[in-house]
Amino acid sequence: MLAARVFLLFLLLAACVPAASTDPTSGKTDFNELCAPCHGVTGKGDGELGKTLAHRPADLTGISARHNGDFPMAYVMSKIWGYEMGKAPTALMPKFAPLMEGPTVLVDTGDGIQTPTPQRLVEIANYLTTIQGK
Ligand code: HEC
Repeated sequence: MLAARVFLLFLLLAACVPAASTDPTSGKTDFNELCAPCHGVTGKGDGELGKTLAHRPADLTGISARHNGDFPMAYVMSKIWGYEMGKAPTALMPKFAPLMEGPTVLVDTGDGIQTPTPQRLVEIANYLTTIQGK
């Protein structure tokens, strides 16, 4: 019985782990598969598919630098999700919302509100934080 309770407690704690500690490697796997064709494996915007576009994909290693040193989590996730769809030049980028179905995690993107957010989306965004300035 005690073991079962400890296990339950563990599950509860695991569910409360903040988004920042999700596994960055799975974000990397998704990145290499979904984003690298355009943004390049390094994220610098030099993927083979990206070179064929009318507008060069953004250098994703410079996001923080372009935002006064702060990584704009909500902005980045909305770009990946596809909220900006239709506005040039991000319109050239696919809308990834349909791929992001599945488990959600609670994330505070700076407004103090914990919002359920697709875990894959958070992991890709977290991965992008690890390549800033590289
Ligand atoms: C078909 C090519 C393509 C693919 C695939 C693609 N992107 Fe993009 N992405 C673009 C283009 C083009 C832009 C717009 C560049 C600009 O704003 O100057 C862009 C812009 C962005 C931006 C905004 C950058 C900024 O500083 O404003 C982010 C963040 C981004 N992409 C992340 C991703 C992620 C993460 C993935 C994979 C899930 C991805 N992109 C897949 C082409 C692509």
